[in-house]
Amino acid sequence: MESTITAPELAAAKGKRRLVMVTASDEPSARLADRAGVDIVLVGDSLAMAALGRPDTLSVTLDEMIHHTRAAAAGATHALLVGDMPFGSYQTSVRDAVRSAVRLVGEGGARAVKLEGPRVPEIAAIVATGIPVMAHLGLTPQSLHSLGGYRVQGRDREQALSLIEKARAIEEAGAFSLVLEAIPSPVGAAITRAVGIPTIGIGAGPDCDGQVLVFADVVGLSEPPLPRFVRRYAEVGATIQSALEAFAADVRAGRYPAAAECYPTPPGLEEPPGFDSNGS
Ligand code: KIV
Repeated sequence: MESTITAPELAAAKGKRRLVMVTASDEPSARLADRAGVDIVLVGDSLAMAALGRPDTLSVTLDEMIHHTRAAAAGATHALLVGDMPFGSYQTSVRDAVRSAVRLVGEGGARAVKLEGPRVPEIAAIVATGIPVMAHLGLTPQSLHSLGGYRVQGRDREQALSLIEKARAIEEAGAFSLVLEAIPSPVGAAITRAVGIPTIGIGAGPDCDGQVLVFADVVGLSEPPLPRFVRRYAEVGATIQSALEAFAADVRAGRYPAAAECYPTPPGLEEPPGFDSNGS
């Protein structure tokens, strides 16, 4: 069996090498990310927008996240597969948080879970069940309404110090890594220096211990407007659309299928059987 990357290995990588994480929502995206050699495949709740066409992440359910995590688990055989805990699956009680994490691992096949915010008791309780936890600070999209929109966080000294304190509490609770989203680069650097676990940035500057982007943004499947931190590495959306346009044109012009794309005719069927008025 192929060796897999573990959460303790990634925690120990801090300061030694930069970590690469990408999101995935199904077997093909997880397989391609895995073959590309990423360290972590995150089945992020951003799939609500990237794959399900929803306006935000709030409506995606635990059952839906388990469904997508299970599909991605079939493709991510080497990278650490992290399942994102959706809105409502851990905010209600520590008990609910543990139950949801157990389902993402047991039913979904995740090998770690991620949750948003400084949820110290929830993180400690999930870690105590033997499930590694990745935390998430800064712009936490599940708090969209209380943050007043998708806004850069940690923009003054007080907020920056508060983020550092939260990051330390998260480390103390036992998280093995920490996503930092949409904060100024010096704040990303300060948090990275302040904790002993790897930080993984998305719009948090170059000094984080690793970086993450959403699969659809990297390969060109998402539609503008895109966040400032996105870098496109391909335009596969345009490539896929042209392929489908060419297929449609070939069908309409009678060019598809060609003889080579049809099964050989068995002897005796060179003349197609006719149908008489009895339908035989
Ligand atoms: O859901 C997601 O894709 C995420 C990443 C942006 C880290 O949480």
